[in-house]
Parts: sequence; C-alpha cells; structure tokens
Amino acid sequence: MANINDNYLKLKAGYLFPEIARRVNVFAEQHAKAPSNPPIIRLGIGDVTEPLPAACRAAMTKAVEDLGRHESFHGYGPEQGYGWLREKIALHDFQARGCDIDASEIFVSDGSKCDSGNILDIFGCDNVIAVTDPVYPVYVDTNVMAGHTGQANDRGEYDGLVYLPISAQNNFIAQIPNRKVDLIYLCFPNNPTGATASREQLQAWVNYALSHEAIIFFDAAYEGFISDPDLPHSIYEIDGARNCAIEFRSFSKNAGFTGTRCALTVVPKSLKARAKDGSLVELWPLWNRRQATKFNGVSYIVQRGAEAVYSPEGQQQVKGLIDFYRENAQIIVQKLTAAGLTVYGGVNAPYVWLKTPNNLSSWDFFDWLLQECHVVGTPGSGFGAAGEGYFRLSAFNSRHHVEEAMQRMVAKL
Ligand code: MLT
Repeated sequence: MANINDNYLKLKAGYLFPEIARRVNVFAEQHAKAPSNPPIIRLGIGDVTEPLPAACRAAMTKAVEDLGRHESFHGYGPEQGYGWLREKIALHDFQARGCDIDASEIFVSDGSKCDSGNILDIFGCDNVIAVTDPVYPVYVDTNVMAGHTGQANDRGEYDGLVYLPISAQNNFIAQIPNRKVDLIYLCFPNNPTGATASREQLQAWVNYALSHEAIIFFDAAYEGFISDPDLPHSIYEIDGARNCAIEFRSFSKNAGFTGTRCALTVVPKSLKARAKDGSLVELWPLWNRRQATKFNGVSYIVQRGAEAVYSPEGQQQVKGLIDFYRENAQIIVQKLTAAGLTVYGGVNAPYVWLKTPNNLSSWDFFDWLLQECHVVGTPGSGFGAAGEGYFRLSAFNSRHHVEEAMQRMVAKL
C-alpha cells in the first residue's frame, strides 16, 4: 500500500483561515434561521473587497484581445515572468528606493503564500529555523509538511523550531537570537500585529544573518501600506541584504489581486548557501531550476494587469485603494481605543492587533464577537502560542461594513 507524508499528521487542526470559515459557516447556517439577525461582517482573513484598479482591468481586457489574434497570441510564457513586467518591478519597487536589484533577480509568481512555502524546496532539512511568535501560520505549517520539525506540544509549538516571542514589551520586534539559526522568517509590516521595523532594526538582523551565514526570508507583502517615510519598504534598502535575504512581494493587498493572483520573489544572484560538502552554492540557479520544473508562470493576462500597476494611473489608483483600507484601519483603531481596548498596529498596516477584553482567550473572544456582534475576526492564538489573549481585525472591507462592525462592537463592549 502507498504510504503518506507522515509530517502532515503533525499539523495542528486545519489551516487557520479555512478553520475560521468552517466555524463561521456553522454559525451562519443557524443564524439564517433567524432572518431578523444582522448580516455577518467578515474582518477575519485579509481578503480585499474593493474592485480592481481601472488601469489593471483595462490592461487585462486588452490582453484578452491580444490572445484572440494570431499575431499577438501568447502560449506558455517564461517561467520567471515576462521581462516587461520584471523590468518595471525592478525599476519602481527596488531601484527607485536605492536597492541594487536587477530584473533578472525577480521571479513573478502566483502568490507570496505559495512562494514562502515553495522556497523550502531549495533548502536542506537540517537548517535551524526561526519564526516569530505570533507568526503568519504558513511559515510554520510548510516547515512541518517538509519534515523540518518534530511534534507540536500542547501550546502548538513544534519541536525543532526556534520561536522568537514578539509582544508589546519589545514593540513586536523579535530579539536577535542568542544562538545560531540558519533560516529566519521576518514579515514587515507585520502580519498579524501590524508592527513595522526601522532601518536600524533590520540592519541588526542583516548583520546577524551575515555573521551566521543565515538566510532571511523577508515577507514584504504589506509594504504598500507603509506611510512613514523613514521606514524601509524592502530588505534590500539595508546594507548587506543582497548577501543574506530573499524577499517576497505581492500584488494582492495593494492592487487587490487576491483573486487574480500575482506576486514576486527576489533571489539576488549574490546569495549563497552551503552544500553538504561545505562548498558555497548560488541560490538563484536553484530557484530558477525549481520554478522551471514545477511552475509554468502566471497568465499573460494577469501579468499585463500587474504591469498596469506601474502606469501613472495605476499608481494613483493603487494609492487610492491603500489609503481607503488604511482609513478603515484608523476607524477600527479609534473606535476600539475609545471603547477602552488596548490596540496596536493599523497605522502602516491593514491589520489591527488588540488585547482581548476581560482576559478572554482568543477563541472565546472570537465566539463572543461572532455570537454577540455577528463580526468575524482572527484569534491571536491561531498565529502562535504567544498570540493567546490577542485578536486580529482586518481593515479589508467596505467602509460601510467597517463602520457597522465598530458600531456593533462598541455597543456591546
Ligand atoms: C491573512 O489574513 O493573514 C492573509 O490574507 C493570508 C494570506 O495572505 O494568505
């Protein structure tokens, strides 16, 4: 009989967001029996609600027309992504900020979530892996699936991972480990806490990685939400990062591509890690080989849509979207702070991280919010043991829903 990857049996419950959806669906089914109840407002998963920018839609419509004519038809594209998109990304997202990143170092993909899991394909099984706690669960679960951990304890912490606690005490910036780790996941602006890292803080991480031959996986999916001009948007704004960091970016949260799917990963050609025999090996050719073997690229239509993000109209429309969600976050912060809750994030990020009232557990607050206010959020404990007693609200929703959700919460708190 065939056997399975037993590592999957180590995973705790379902992946966080499907698990929340499952619980909400059970509630919604009962709730439908009482039509006088107000509709459920979902501030759980960070999924966008506003229409795609007009510039992107126009570019995608034109791309569909291209596919309807022999002379402009496109079949398989380059696995790494079309050069015309990678050139624009390199110029606007990196070179314009002083980052020494070339278009050839950019790999267009269908998602940062996918890439942050897939990247493990090119790394060995003996790396010591550090994650913050709380953390975006994909970093942990993909390492579990790949067999990089032991079993989880009662708190859901996996044997073999190095957890770096983040809390209000350290401004949600993990302390540099006092031991050697090989792979480090950093996410700024942070999911779930909404915290940001300064240049100095990132420099400390880069210095650590360089001196320990570690690689930083830098998830910058939310960089578009940074409003403070002093904050770095990319790890490559930091000296030395070309030699120790891989960066993940996405069109999901800035341009609303969660359903359309387009993202990118940067693997600098100067980046190296060691083979078993101790020799230094460049990572770019390995990732290129991995993508060419397992991935056929993002559709021509979607890449044309992503390219339009960099047109003057696209830039303006994306700014409008980000400003809109950031204002939502500010409404959440203001209303809940006024209601007496302790609230973090929501300034340079679309997530608001709050301390649950009356010391409720994260899941108890989830249930209270759902039952009493018909509002869905994300329990902090779903992001790790140190997230217990916290709760995340997403600013990705319509203004009407955010205001309505706040009214309901403030009335019941
Ligand atoms: C989240 O809510 O944390 C994100 O939407 C998840 C994701 O982007 O995959």
